[in-house]
Amino acid sequence: MNKIINKSIKIAIVGATGLVGQSFLKVLEEFDLPIDEYKLFASKKNAGKIIKFLNKDYQINELTEKSFDEKFDFALFSAGSNISEKFAPIAASKNCIVIDNSSFWRMKKNIPLVIPQVNPQDLENHSNIISNPNCSTIQAACVLHPIHQKYKIKRIIFSTYQAVSGAGKSGYNDLKNGINSYVNNTEYKLEKFLYPIFNNCIPQIDDFLENNYTKEEQKMIDETKKILHEPNLAISATTVRVPVFNSHSESINIELSTEFKINDIKSLLDISPGVVVHDDPSKNKYPMAVDCSGKNEVFVGRIRRDFSIKNGLNLWVVSDNIRKGAATNAVEILAYLLTGNIYNKKTLLF
Ligand SMILES: NC(=O)c1ccc[n+]([C@@H]2O[C@H](COP(=O)([O-])OP(=O)(O)OC[C@H]3O[C@@H](n4cnc5c(N)ncnc54)[C@H](OP(=O)(O)O)[C@@H]3O)[C@@H](O)[C@H]2O)c1
Repeated sequence: MNKIINKSIKIAIVGATGLVGQSFLKVLEEFDLPIDEYKLFASKKNAGKIIKFLNKDYQINELTEKSFDEKFDFALFSAGSNISEKFAPIAASKNCIVIDNSSFWRMKKNIPLVIPQVNPQDLENHSNIISNPNCSTIQAACVLHPIHQKYKIKRIIFSTYQAVSGAGKSGYNDLKNGINSYVNNTEYKLEKFLYPIFNNCIPQIDDFLENNYTKEEQKMIDETKKILHEPNLAISATTVRVPVFNSHSESINIELSTEFKINDIKSLLDISPGVVVHDDPSKNKYPMAVDCSGKNEVFVGRIRRDFSIKNGLNLWVVSDNIRKGAATNAVEILAYLLTGNIYNKKTLLF
């Protein structure tokens, strides 16, 4: 892969005031990439607002059709599908490489859908738009990919427990306001969800499709197949919103084509890039949302045999949906394009 070197690099961040956008800034500060200049964009309502980033004051600019008349090398987009649909092609046409967090481009032909630890080879061919997968798909694929390489997965069943931050600032507010209203016995208006999320689990993430699956469930199914390059893999999913502020948890049940030993699976995951095994039933150790928030890795525990089928395996996978599920993965794509390096840090939980 050709790396951009010996050149001053300028980046646009679109959606810089959002949950993912704010996390872009934190992760970029941590990664310390060879980037020379940034410009931050959001909607008109935040134009002029000052944000502290890299110990400097940055002014938020309103995103307009003229924004990409200025030359950028890369743009990190996290402002929703409508903005990505309209503005990513404008940026791409001006030779700016867009790394997009929305779902709009993910399943389009010839758009790479990339997790650098899983399918970096797909970055070889792009037309200036690269998609970041769905948050719940990223953390699952990081763990499934090495297992699939060695044992060939026959079937996957996803059951997710997804945090409210996955629904953006308004989702976060619905849980916060629900808690306040319970404590203070006051009324509040829901901003995002159809039902109160406080003290509740909602088995609907995004709209329903004709097949009675939700779009989130279908994204997990379709995106996993695209990332693993397995269009015929048997996958089913149930995705549930739970009253957790941040970090998605997933129960993943898989059927493998060949026999395996549990210790071999643990050793394999232990050396897989960006994956941390946190699994010790004798000490009640397993990954939990509260511990994984703020971390860049994918954590896996409760690794155990499913005795109900031949070669069955159960996993519990937790990751920060705003970080690895969005900002970290996008910045890792950027880092790979700039430096050719794949992130393989292992932050232990405790
Ligand atoms: N949250 C997650 O876990 C997650 C994970 C993966 C992918 N994503 C995707 O990332 C995107 C952003 O998610 P989020 O959670 O960060 O949402 P969010 O907190 O609601 O933030 C939305 C961002 O988009 C900006 N925006 C809205 N309308 C705009 C416009 N007309 N022009 C320019 N900017 C505009 C907002 O700017 P203002 O503040 O000025 O309105 C804000 O910066 C979505 O496509 C989402 O599906 C989210």
